[in-house]
Amino acid sequence: MALVSRGGRWCPTLPLSLSLLLLLPALVSASIQPGWWRKESPQEPEPRPSVPTALDLPLLQELAADPAENQAVSPFVMSSLMTQVCLGAGGTTRDEMLPILGLEDPETGAELDYLGGYQSAIEHLTSNTTNITVATFNGMYVRPGFSVRPSYRSTLRQVYGSDALPITSPEETAREINTAVAEVTRGKIAELVAANQLQGVDLVLVSALYFKALWQHPFVADDRPTPFLTAEGERRLTMMSLPDPTSLLYANLTQFEAVALPYSEPEYSLLLLRPAERSMESVQTLLDMLDTLNMADIYSQMYEISMHVTMPKFKIETDYSLTEPLTALGIQEIFSQGADFSQMTDERGVFVSDIIHKVFIEVTEEGTEAAGAGAVFFTRSMPMNFIVDRPFVAVVYNRPLGLNLFSAYVASPGSAADPAPAARTRYSRPQLPKFLSQFPRRNAINTFDGSRIREFFSSSRLLGQRE
Ligand SMILES: *[C@@H]1O[C@H](CO)[C@@H](O)[C@H](O)[C@H]1NC(C)=O
Ligand SMILES: *[C@@H]1O[C@H](CO)[C@@H](O)[C@H](O)[C@H]1NC(C)=O
Ligand SMILES: *[C@@H]1O[C@H](CO)[C@@H](O)[C@H](O)[C@H]1NC(C)=O
Repeated sequence: MALVSRGGRWCPTLPLSLSLLLLLPALVSASIQPGWWRKESPQEPEPRPSVPTALDLPLLQELAADPAENQAVSPFVMSSLMTQVCLGAGGTTRDEMLPILGLEDPETGAELDYLGGYQSAIEHLTSNTTNITVATFNGMYVRPGFSVRPSYRSTLRQVYGSDALPITSPEETAREINTAVAEVTRGKIAELVAANQLQGVDLVLVSALYFKALWQHPFVADDRPTPFLTAEGERRLTMMSLPDPTSLLYANLTQFEAVALPYSEPEYSLLLLRPAERSMESVQTLLDMLDTLNMADIYSQMYEISMHVTMPKFKIETDYSLTEPLTALGIQEIFSQGADFSQMTDERGVFVSDIIHKVFIEVTEEGTEAAGAGAVFFTRSMPMNFIVDRPFVAVVYNRPLGLNLFSAYVASPGSAADPAPAARTRYSRPQLPKFLSQFPRRNAINTFDGSRIREFFSSSRLLGQRE
């Protein structure tokens, strides 16, 4: 039986969601140095990952705030998108993103060369696919008339293989994006964007990844219901098991144990992290330390051991708007009207109006099929509408002198067609407002401008009376 969850529906399979989240970072790291996973070379110095991974597990941790919900992200899709956003940013908008995405050396602050990493990762992922299927897609869609810097365009093309295409109409472009993503993901993500999400959008960055692989050691279905711990108590599930004791990479890291299940192309594996104890406290401990974990470190501590593995099959589909989680992680300015995208465009007032992410992953006896896609929407700030359609206060003011020359409370303005209701206004105090009597006398002058006007006009029945 497969566990299925969609969006926010509760489905009690936390440890599964962890393993999922860990799958894609493992892919990316593996692409850097084939063979580093092997038992024979755990002592070799770890290569510096050339694709930045700093966002990967903190993002999962942020999403997994509720340990009863399944979550799944594609770190490779999200880091591809967010580095493309960062490449377009300048000033403090960019500075804010660098450490969160892991694009600078934490000691020296020097920017790392990650562009070569994406280029070679994409080449590597999509070229050696004898026993597995991997496909990637990157695209940029631009509203005609929205100027994109040629340097930005050419970097995205060279590094991410991203071509610039025009945004025709929201409907047409939504169809184009969805067709491209569905093709790459073999239909697993059929509808990434909706036409209404493209309304008023000037530029869209799209990224997608597909992965399908068979296990090196296939599982067999195990129909005996087995208890599985969840945040809401025990659940009985059917599982799948490896039919024979199998030699696999394993590590006991005190708070959790890790096992790597290799695919038929052993450069790729599914890394399972199981909390040390069968309790939700132990699950929470693992979740709390997710942002400190590093897949390469975990692999470097693994050794081969013969074991029987039993685990549930699972299938998770997620659909996120990542604006809030990314804001919580500290990426904030890109979403504000003051964002600086001067490296992408000369247009003013450009900001990110939304970042969406969809993931599909299914793990069965035979292997794994997973797809992820995301999009970043850029919009120009609309000129703000300021309609004075209610009573208001107007002050004629000289700023350097600090002089308030005239002040008025306009309760009911007039015009030729709609003559002013009051040629002269009478003042009669119905009663002294309570709060005024509390002011000591010496405050009277300081508070004159504000409180006296308030007092003067505090009763609507004083206003707009015809002589
Ligand atoms: C493809 O995979 C084979 C076998 O795993 C390996 O020997 C070869 O170096 C790989 N080629 C590339 C371009 O990565
Ligand atoms: C893992 O290590 C911890 C701490 O050293 C130990 O208590 C635990 O029994 C170990 N677990 C296994 C399965 O070996
Ligand atoms: C593909 O899988 C087969 C069977 O598992 C194996 O013999 C072969 O070496 C694999 N090819 C590559 C390039 O990994």
